Amino acid sequence: MKSNIIFAAALALAPLTVTTANAQDTTAGAAEERTDAQAIQAIHEEWADLIAEKDSAAIGALYAEDAVLMAPGEATVEGAPAIEDRYRLIDTAAAYENERAVGRAIAQSRIPRDEIFVTTKLWVQDAGYDATKAAFRRSLDRLQLDYLDLYLIHQPYSDVHGSWRAMEELHETGTIRAIGVSNFQPDRVMDIVSFNRITPAVNQIETHPFHQRVEEQKFLIENGVQMQSWGPFAEGRNNLFSNVTLKGIADAHDRTVAQVVLKWLLQRNIVAIPKSVRPARIAENFASFDFDLSDEEMATIATLDTGESAFIDHRDPEAVKGIAAWKFDT
Ligand SMILES: NC(=O)c1ccc[n+]([C@@H]2O[C@H](COP(=O)([O-])OP(=O)(O)OC[C@H]3O[C@@H](n4cnc5c(N)ncnc54)[C@H](OP(=O)(O)O)[C@@H]3O)[C@@H](O)[C@H]2O)c1
Repeated sequence: MKSNIIFAAALALAPLTVTTANAQDTTAGAAEERTDAQAIQAIHEEWADLIAEKDSAAIGALYAEDAVLMAPGEATVEGAPAIEDRYRLIDTAAAYENERAVGRAIAQSRIPRDEIFVTTKLWVQDAGYDATKAAFRRSLDRLQLDYLDLYLIHQPYSDVHGSWRAMEELHETGTIRAIGVSNFQPDRVMDIVSFNRITPAVNQIETHPFHQRVEEQKFLIENGVQMQSWGPFAEGRNNLFSNVTLKGIADAHDRTVAQVVLKWLLQRNIVAIPKSVRPARIAENFASFDFDLSDEEMATIATLDTGESAFIDHRDPEAVKGIAAWKFDT
């Protein structure tokens, strides 16, 4: 398999959704913006080829084990077999305190660096121009990498503009291939777009059948930002895996609820990063491509939307206060 196709499988799941035109085309940063958008567009087109070929490679992300997340610095490298299996998109974060473990897993895997797509995230305590540059360097060192594929601002708080300017510069030097945000609602995305040169390539936000964010997706598409789903299974909340509606559709296709949810995201052109630590489920989640949901089934799933987060309201002052108080060894 061509390395760039494996790479395509990493960002994955959203053929032909990134628009190259956007509101900043007249600014000095337009060239960089187009570069990002076109790169992602190319990834998506190659991904579309993979689907056409019915290649089963790569959905989702590798996460170091939950145990690793709980034991910073003492991690095993249980992630390595998953990388050697078929995972190619690795989504981690300074705040998960598992970058060292992920770095070891990558180093011990047999997959060449250019066939893996690595995302990590900047935590709020490192917001601001200088702190972001220093935090990024520490992340890169922990990951044992000399460049990063995607760097996200993890939360929409504190000096995100200072952070963004630092990230723009790191992107321009080639140390970060693409820059983006996470947990940004449309007004926060527009704030970044309006006052900076480079539009975020990605917004990683909670998206699952109970929180579908249809209007937000339209906004992101209009502004050339790729939507990426964290918590695609809502971490099992609201009894997602035994939901009668989803189960009925799954049974009709002789599939599982997890596979239906991932296919539903794929058909909405949303990148998904499902997490499982179990090999059987990792394989199950990979096998989500070779069937189609009908328009009627998509419409049925649309009725499950509650319009609310299953986890957190990022506009709740108590949530902001809580996140601001979380400190990590970043
Ligand atoms: N940017 C952010 O602020 C943010 C916030 C939260 C999460 N994330 C990232 O998004 C990733 C995914 O989200 P998430 O882990 O929160 O939630 P998720 O992927 O919706 O759910 C993960 C849960 O689903 C289970 N699961 C996975 N595949 C399954 C299957 N086929 N059948 C039944 N159960 C299955 C997993 O259990 P097992 O592992 O036991 O299989 C785990 O308990 C995370 O790893 C995290 O890194 C980002």
